[in-house]
Amino acid sequence: MKLLVCGGAGFIGSTFARLRLREQGDAVTVLDKLTYAGREENFQDLTEEPGFRFVHGAIEDPGAVAAAIAAGSPEAIVNFAAETHVDRSIAEPDAFVRTHALGTYVLLEAAREQGLRYLQVSTDEVYGSIDVGTFNEDSPLRPSSPYSATKTGADLLVASYFHTYGLPAVICRGSNNYGPYQYPEKLIPLMILNALNGDSLPVYGDGMQVRNWIHSTDFARAIGHVLEHGDPGEVYNAGGPDEEANIAVIRRIIDLTGAEESQIDYVTDRPGHDRRYSLSSEKVRALGWAPNVRFEDGLAETVAWYRENAWWWEPIRSGDYRGYYERQYGRSLQP
Ligand code: NAD
Ligand code: TYD
Repeated sequence: MKLLVCGGAGFIGSTFARLRLREQGDAVTVLDKLTYAGREENFQDLTEEPGFRFVHGAIEDPGAVAAAIAAGSPEAIVNFAAETHVDRSIAEPDAFVRTHALGTYVLLEAAREQGLRYLQVSTDEVYGSIDVGTFNEDSPLRPSSPYSATKTGADLLVASYFHTYGLPAVICRGSNNYGPYQYPEKLIPLMILNALNGDSLPVYGDGMQVRNWIHSTDFARAIGHVLEHGDPGEVYNAGGPDEEANIAVIRRIIDLTGAEESQIDYVTDRPGHDRRYSLSSEKVRALGWAPNVRFEDGLAETVAWYRENAWWWEPIRSGDYRGYYERQYGRSLQP
């Protein structure tokens, strides 16, 4: 297939591009704005692959979208492009509204004009929090944060293009991802790097919030599976095999890195913090997908990757991220 992968310089988008180029022999054009989270380092091993192209631009810019389509002549658009951190959406929601609402609209219009298939990458956070049981694709949408609310808005716009214009669009909602190349503002890479560098490990509230963890390669494969086998107009959830409380995840990271229990620091909770996410993936499993990576194994591999790839994270930890960290946590990272 020829694919336009929007947001392909980010964590999951670059993982998806790598798998599609190397395992499926697809041609992949990445369109990415290169925000703080989008980095050319994430796809520097792909630039020599036949079929790989990179176009620098924003999804809300119709000219950039047209240029990327002209460059790659795609059959389908896969949209990963997003602002993705809940804490940043609480501090500064502006870019979340622009990218998720306007950006998704511009991509949908381009897909409609050019007769392209469309896959929207979405999140379990659109369903909100669930204390007991699991969400399925028919569960009500009750997002809690500006991040999840604007992602929900994008999903509804995608659905409207299927119902109104017959656009062959599908939505794939993932649970919390982890793996190589994840920006260290998110729980797992933040804790790994803080553990390795002797920084404190900031636990929000009581640390008993539960997340359903999926390895990024499993989610990337689920997205490919939905693209190939999903029915237009449908939503498919893709969750990981294991759920765990945050404090238990942090204790695993302490064991894997040799950090000290005394590095744990209970800090003020996130406003509007969702207690638990839990996702049923029966529908995409019925299409033949299943996750391959158990959390225990994937986390150990992820810790090893961060240990071995300081070239990737050192420029982040010595750059603008330091200022973000001070604003968010009220303390500095170790020099
Ligand atoms: P990320 O923050 O690592 O990457 C996002 C990418 O989008 C970056 O390369 C960034 O430069 C790009 N981008 C942002 N705004 C853009 C714009 N206006 N135009 C073009 N490019 C833009 O995010 P990620 O964790 O890889 O998430 C990718 C997708 O998966 C998102 O849609 C997210 O909502 C979804 N998702 C993420 C998770 C998770 O746990 N990380 C879970 C479920 C779903
Ligand atoms: P995060 O990685 O931000 O993902 P999401 O909010 O999208 O689930 O956070 C995962 C969980 O970890 C969430 O319950 C918030 C918690 N958390 C902390 O306790 N400390 C932190 O420093 C961060 C970033 C997250």
